[in-house]
Amino acid sequence: MPSALPSTSAAPVLRVEDLTLAFGGVKALAGVGFEVQPGSITAVIGPNGAGKTSLFNTISGFYCPSAGRVRFEGADITRVPAPRRAAMGLARSFQNIALFRGMTVLDNIKLGRHAHLKTNVFDALFYVGRARREEAELRRDVEERIIDFLEIDHIRHASVAALPYGLQKRVEMARALAMQPKVLMLDEPVAGMNREETEDMARFILDVRREWGITVLMVEHDMGMVMDLSDHVVVLNFGQVIAQGTPQQVQADPEVVRAYLGAGDVGALRRKLRGEAVTP
Ligand SMILES: Nc1ncnc2c1ncn2[C@@H]1O[C@H](COP(=O)(O)OP(=O)(O)O)[C@@H](O)[C@H]1O
Ligand SMILES: [Mg+2]
Repeated sequence: MPSALPSTSAAPVLRVEDLTLAFGGVKALAGVGFEVQPGSITAVIGPNGAGKTSLFNTISGFYCPSAGRVRFEGADITRVPAPRRAAMGLARSFQNIALFRGMTVLDNIKLGRHAHLKTNVFDALFYVGRARREEAELRRDVEERIIDFLEIDHIRHASVAALPYGLQKRVEMARALAMQPKVLMLDEPVAGMNREETEDMARFILDVRREWGITVLMVEHDMGMVMDLSDHVVVLNFGQVIAQGTPQQVQADPEVVRAYLGAGDVGALRRKLRGEAVTP
């Protein structure tokens, strides 16, 4: 019973139930269910086209599923618009960087904070004087903490377009952190990075959890990193959960091996899942 939900003690911070999403005839998601435990690093893996990005887009509210639910801290948010989900504490990065390239690093980070601005007219009317000053100070504190944490002080006034890819990814993470999320969703955080950039990012992801107490849900192709960092791994194939568990459990699962290699070389996949170099 590979897609059964694990029995766990803590209440999940995020829970998806039976999610189904189709594009025309293509079922990108077909009954996907799993839980994310608070304080965990949970990874979603799977071959190309498995439905990972579709799942992320559905959880963050960019796509509306034809069936199933998304629950955040117990509340059904399946019909809650994306910006509202971000304000509730569900922040994300994108597989293809979605920064404002003409703007500076600092301005991009400030934009992240706008998820928290009051939008209600009543609130806005009474949101004056001292409260506003306190909010501005708090914001500056948060921005400075993030800049310090991600080691991007030296580029705060640089235009994003001029930065190398690895740093752009870091700025994207900074912007997501500026939303002060409870759950940080990262879509392929180390895709296209070299070894050193990948190791830096892995360290930041671990520190996000350790220093900020933020739960991380990531989609990632780099198996070595997934297996090193994750507490829980969910494996998708053809829009379905084919296995989930600890990295060790998932690596040992024959379904996972088959999904990645078809009838190919199982030994090579095992090495790949362990993060070792694979020579074809
Ligand atoms: N916007 C879209 N329009 C049509 N088909 C899509 C769209 N997004 C994804 N798909 C299809 O849904 C399936 C899952 O894609 P995706 O979620 O991008 O997978 P992954 O991120 O795991 O590579 C694929 O068959 C893909 O072609
Ligand atoms: Mg994808």
